Amino acid sequence: MTQDDFWSRLDAYLEELVPARPPELVTMEEYARERHFPIIGPAAGQLCYQLARMVGARRIFEMGSGYGYSTAWFARAVQENGGGEVYHVVWDEELSSRARGHLTRLGFADIVRYRVGEAVGALEQTDGPFDLIFNDIDKEAYAAALPAITAKLRSGGVLVVDNTLWSGRVWDERDQSASTRGIREFTRLVTGDPGWIVSLVPIRDGLTVAYRR
Ligand SMILES: C[S@@+](CC[C@H](N)C(=O)[O-])C[C@H]1O[C@@H](n2cnc3c(N)ncnc32)[C@H](O)[C@@H]1O
Repeated sequence: MTQDDFWSRLDAYLEELVPARPPELVTMEEYARERHFPIIGPAAGQLCYQLARMVGARRIFEMGSGYGYSTAWFARAVQENGGGEVYHVVWDEELSSRARGHLTRLGFADIVRYRVGEAVGALEQTDGPFDLIFNDIDKEAYAAALPAITAKLRSGGVLVVDNTLWSGRVWDERDQSASTRGIREFTRLVTGDPGWIVSLVPIRDGLTVAYRR
């Protein structure tokens, strides 16, 4: 088996382990495939849902929400945790309104709050604390977003950050693009700070899971 075979089989296997999703969520997955829109996908979605259940999250702030696929996993957890709020934040009006349609049909109208605008600024303008913050914004902004996240996440809360493997570009020293450097710098900061307990979970493109002491 080649390395490529291994990784694509691993992805397929992990996805098979995720229980069946509601038809609306499957429609969102198909849309991502057709349009090549980067969503977290089922295996990472399941991990996000699980983490949010494990910390009993009732308030979640999501940065870089697209058309609401990752939001749906968090909203389900908050609903099962007894209710609360999940902030959907994206700077594109069209994506925000598409998300509103999907998330309403999924039964999360009373949980999701919509903000159209830049996500770090939106977080700074929203009262904390949050139980869980998810970051999936443009990668060059990852390191600069960390102070705002730290200020709004409760002690005992969880930060989840997507794409921290970046298809392996993070360890390729020839890659000095702004996005790769942004992920590397974020990773260096969070793993070097004793205020966080951190693991990088190599599902799909890598999810950094950081527990705030
Ligand atoms: C990778 S996609 C989000 C996918 C979504 N988290 C999911 O898995 O379903 C990131 C989205 O956030 C938007 N975005 C990127 N940086 C942002 C920022 N700083 N503020 C607001 N939106 C941002 C992008 O335009 C894109 O629509």
